[in-house]
Amino acid sequence: MTLSIQNLTAGYSSGPDILHNTCFELREREIVTIIGPNGAGKSTVLRSIFGLTDIRKGEIIHGSRDITSLSTHEIIRSGIAMVSQGRNIFPDLTVEENLEMGAYTLRSKQEIKDKKKDVFQFFPKLKSFRDRHSGILSGGERQMVAIGMALMLSPEVLLLDEPSIGLAPKIIDEVFAKIQHIRDEGASILMVEQNASKALSISDRGYVLELGRNALDGTGKKLLTDPKVGELYLGKKGKKS
Ligand SMILES: Nc1ncnc2c1ncn2[C@@H]1O[C@H](COP(=O)(O)OP(=O)(O)OP(=O)(O)O)[C@@H](O)[C@H]1O
Ligand SMILES: [Mg+2]
Repeated sequence: MTLSIQNLTAGYSSGPDILHNTCFELREREIVTIIGPNGAGKSTVLRSIFGLTDIRKGEIIHGSRDITSLSTHEIIRSGIAMVSQGRNIFPDLTVEENLEMGAYTLRSKQEIKDKKKDVFQFFPKLKSFRDRHSGILSGGERQMVAIGMALMLSPEVLLLDEPSIGLAPKIIDEVFAKIQHIRDEGASILMVEQNASKALSISDRGYVLELGRNALDGTGKKLLTDPKVGELYLGKKGKKS
């Protein structure tokens, strides 16, 4: 098991519990998607793994290591990277400078150079834009920069919060193809998505989160054909009997 989240109850500072006893698992080289309505706590799951919430109960295990109470910096060092909701890139920096920011925990200049080369190979488009200010890029290109920043650290586990948000269907397909490619190269991916049908169709497994609680889980295929998931998240009308 790459990542095991057991009985996680978490919230923010002194506020109420947002997640209630939730459990998620991510195995090696899996793509796992969490779906659910707005405000269900999907981003809070990813933020909890990344050390950005107040964890009140439960544990988060990465490989054989308990990372529940580590700082974000230590969590990154353990091999986890996150692309947060809303593509947090630095608009005033160039594409190349953004990638360098993603590598801030790397010490050696040569290592940064090598990783940049890898990311440019993976996203050839970014190479041709390397000197452009990121603020003028299209939504899809910015998403590539944000994912590229996370890849600078060659993470074992990549957390992706709504990678397709605001993108045109064709660009969503490109981003999802890249996500599969990242998995094929050895990473395990836990993502949160509103675009449930596309996300589940590339996922090994999925979870439905409702009001901060586990509601359903299963293989991507099973969830795609589940009538309740179809009605609530895939825009399919439930069949009347
Ligand atoms: N930094 C924060 N401080 C306090 N409460 C927060 C914070 N971030 C989120 N919340 C609250 O936690 C709950 C769950 O939010 P979260 O962002 O995890 O939902 P979500 O499922 O990702 O929703 P969406 O689909 O809209 O992105 C919401 O009620 C939200 O108001
Ligand atoms: Mg969210």
